[in-house]
Amino acid sequence: MRNLINILDLSVEEIDELIRVADDILEQPEKYREVCRHRILATLFYEPSTRTRLSFESAMLSLGGEVLGFSEASSSSAAKGESVADTIAIVSGYADIIAMRHPKEGAPIVAARHTRVPVINAGDGGHYHPTQTLADLMTIHHEKGRFDNLTIGLCGDLKFGRTVHSLIEAMSRYEGIKFVLISPEELKLPSFVKKEYIKDKGIPYRQSTSLDEVIADLDILYMTRVQKERFFNEEDYLRLKDSYILTTEKMKLAKEDMIVMHPLPRVNEISTAVDDDPRACYFRQTYYGKLMRMALIMKLLEIQV
Ligand code: CP
Repeated sequence: MRNLINILDLSVEEIDELIRVADDILEQPEKYREVCRHRILATLFYEPSTRTRLSFESAMLSLGGEVLGFSEASSSSAAKGESVADTIAIVSGYADIIAMRHPKEGAPIVAARHTRVPVINAGDGGHYHPTQTLADLMTIHHEKGRFDNLTIGLCGDLKFGRTVHSLIEAMSRYEGIKFVLISPEELKLPSFVKKEYIKDKGIPYRQSTSLDEVIADLDILYMTRVQKERFFNEEDYLRLKDSYILTTEKMKLAKEDMIVMHPLPRVNEISTAVDDDPRACYFRQTYYGKLMRMALIMKLLEIQV
């Protein structure tokens, strides 16, 4: 039995295969309509979500399966003090596969120790978000046509932005990658990511506090929201929340084929006027997320078509 806790739980070859399956689902969705018949996905979301939870549920329903779960801790027995370990032990008797989001870093590792069915990390605190990375990789595959030789700018909250951490891990396995880390001093990339996946691998990188100074060099600009829910005080959040706002003026400085990605939700960091720029990929990215989650569910349930 396989879980997906960290994006590196999947090899590069397995990710290529998931993208191949997701592309096939895009081309021929009818082929996949019944493949998860009588299978149940449980979505255990201890933290708010729109895309991840609904795309997981839509993915399972599109495969002919069924879904159950909760969308907030307060409507589960976590509110009465039940542990993740006990909840997972119970739910693995009710479902064939579990997608779990939790505010505490490492909670999915605890879940993996107590489950009898595959567990998928749907985001753990400020740590990792591997299925967002699957969406990101399919976006890069479709929009850039390659994973090698890309200069990737990651902008905003690199400290708490779990999507950034997982994407850096994933992209660090390809050739010719350069990272440009754009953040305020207070929201710099944590050393557990920078050391292991950039410095120790000898990947060229640059740090900047200015998006304007570096945008012209980028093939991909990955914007992120400042993660209000991880701040200890409101004052710091208010001071940092609008550090970067991508506007149509700034887009004029970028390459004609640079793409803009964002895991969403967006708050202020991308002006809505940018949405009409063909280089803005973030809404397409959400659809790729559903397709990759369909491919992942099939893989973890060992269903081949
Ligand atoms: N990208 C992402 O995780 O969005 P949600 O928080 O809406 O699931």
